[in-house]
Amino acid sequence: MPLTTTISSLTQHYLDKEDKYGAHNYHPLPVVLTKGKGVHVWDVDNRRYFDFLSGYSAINQGHCHPRILETFLEQAQKLTLTSRAFHNDVLGEYEEFITRFFGYDKVLPMNTGVEAVETALKLARRWGYEVKGVERNRAKIIVCEQNFHGRTISVISFTSDEGSSKDFGPFTPGFEPIPYNDINALKIALQDPNVIGFLVEPIQGEAGVVVPDEGYLSQAAKLCRDANVLFIGDEIQTGLARTGKMLGCDHENVRPDILILGKALSGGTMPVSAVLADDEIMLTIKPGDHGSTYGGNPLACKVAMTSLQVLLDEQMADNARVQGAHFRKGLVALNSDLISIVRGKGLFNAIVISHPDKEAAWNICLEMKENGLIAKPTHGDRIRFAPPLTINRDQIDECLDIIGRSLRHF
Ligand SMILES: Cc1ncc(COP(=O)(O)O)c(C=O)c1O
Repeated sequence: MPLTTTISSLTQHYLDKEDKYGAHNYHPLPVVLTKGKGVHVWDVDNRRYFDFLSGYSAINQGHCHPRILETFLEQAQKLTLTSRAFHNDVLGEYEEFITRFFGYDKVLPMNTGVEAVETALKLARRWGYEVKGVERNRAKIIVCEQNFHGRTISVISFTSDEGSSKDFGPFTPGFEPIPYNDINALKIALQDPNVIGFLVEPIQGEAGVVVPDEGYLSQAAKLCRDANVLFIGDEIQTGLARTGKMLGCDHENVRPDILILGKALSGGTMPVSAVLADDEIMLTIKPGDHGSTYGGNPLACKVAMTSLQVLLDEQMADNARVQGAHFRKGLVALNSDLISIVRGKGLFNAIVISHPDKEAAWNICLEMKENGLIAKPTHGDRIRFAPPLTINRDQIDECLDIIGRSLRHF
């Protein structure tokens, strides 16, 4: 299908610079953004778009949320970083705030999502040896096929995505992949007494917003509890109101033993992540055992408190639930032959494109860009739709119109 995508000379100038001087580790849509406000972003030619990726769900609160920015600017002028060699007057306040917010004894602050995942894996192993009593260096953690938990060598040691792991070995041992959404596979894997943790995304995001069957998470949590195995919830993408509840696990009243948060914890302003757990787990890590220069910095702590408070004050989980249901209904009503599946929860959604052309999803994204909406395909044929959670019904209708027009034009 021939497709004309408008690339101005100004846009081309930025694309060329990145191509020449930057590593080629991403394949972005050819749009160069310079400004964001709420659900919208603008490119260097001043064209406006609906942002339907939201920085992979880091911008749940909308671009440049005024309250988050205010907090950011205020704290940035006061104190930004102390390292954990010294105390700062914000960390304790944040730790109290976030542990009460999610109902855990303690938090361990980190920066990027994958650092928080690594932290959770370390905590689980420590707990496995020191509390559960597994023989040293024999601990196993069950993971799910098609997972996405980040890019470090340990985390890609258990990816099923060949591109992410090819020629990056040797890998870290101790991870046992089982099929996602397969409770029987989990039951069997849990029979191994060396298993100490089960790491799971409540909805698999990068895999293309794969929603497990109802009951999967609660049954999995119960099986883990019965087997004395930690249920480790990676809520980096599903958390913070994205799916219509504060956490993805809340849909099934599951409380992970270790909760991993990131992305929208800063409303998209800086890398802030966190691991929450109770004392029995968290206190297995002693001074000097683990850390990060920027983890727990006062700027991040202040920003995270406001980012969480904004989610509550603006009832973003409720809005995600209501607008998400309306959006999925609208996608189905488009009645497009190109859409084989519509799935998701809250404002975490995806369509699967059915077309013989392997570039179809990419080309549809280019077409949507032409019409004022930016989204990105994942795994070739899936397009994720995850706008900021501030989006309203009229805007959803406008976006459905753009998606419908783009599909028809394709
Ligand atoms: C579920 C999940 N875990 C971990 C990560 C890694 O986060 P980061 O890119 O901040 O390291 C991501 C990022 O997309 C994610 O979706």
